Amino acid sequence: MPKRQKAGQKSDRAQRERVRVLITGGRIQRRIQELAQEIRRDFPGEPLHLVSVLKGGVFFLTDLARNIAGEVSFDFIAVSSYGQKTHSSGQVRLTRDLDSSIEGKTVIVVEDILDTGMTLQYLLRLFQQRKPKHLRVAVLLDKPERRIAAVRADYIGFSIPNEFVVGYGLDYAERYRNLPYVGVLLLGPGLKKKPAED
Ligand code: IMP
Ligand code: MG
Repeated sequence: MPKRQKAGQKSDRAQRERVRVLITGGRIQRRIQELAQEIRRDFPGEPLHLVSVLKGGVFFLTDLARNIAGEVSFDFIAVSSYGQKTHSSGQVRLTRDLDSSIEGKTVIVVEDILDTGMTLQYLLRLFQQRKPKHLRVAVLLDKPERRIAAVRADYIGFSIPNEFVVGYGLDYAERYRNLPYVGVLLLGPGLKKKPAED
């Protein structure tokens, strides 16, 4: 039987993990407003179709969509990497396809983070075959040091160092997505940084 937690007492897990704020919620929101304006300037008067990758990209998509003036629609796709620790193996699999066709549309792929680039490379190949009018990429975070695939984003919120981050959609074992900011995950007992390649 699990021991009952007293009020105010942190779980074992919470004692072993800390998050150090890297980018505040305010900075994220201001940057998203700028990105939204930049995207609209590049495609004045055009309907824009935002395609986000579940689940990490959801917060970025909703905030971005609300800041882009004019006609905007959106859709979702889901992919999984074989095993949670094998992003760099390049094995990406589609687990949920888009609801509608992107043919002839101006499509902006909206991703939480560009790390090795394997996910984005897979998605861009898939979407290119479907003949969109334009295909662009917006990422909230970019970790250029970790890149393996030759892909780049057209719109980048923040370039960050090679650290494992959580919050604002990004998870560690499905937790921390709900944080309004982005932070570096520290793992105890000495609260060391989580190696980014794990
Ligand atoms: P890529 O295919 O290596 O570019 O990986 C992209 C995906 O890996 C992201 O959409 C995230 O789900 C995950 N990821 C990469 N870096 C981090 C991180 O620092 N924290 C949480 N998830 C990450
Ligand atoms: Mg993830």
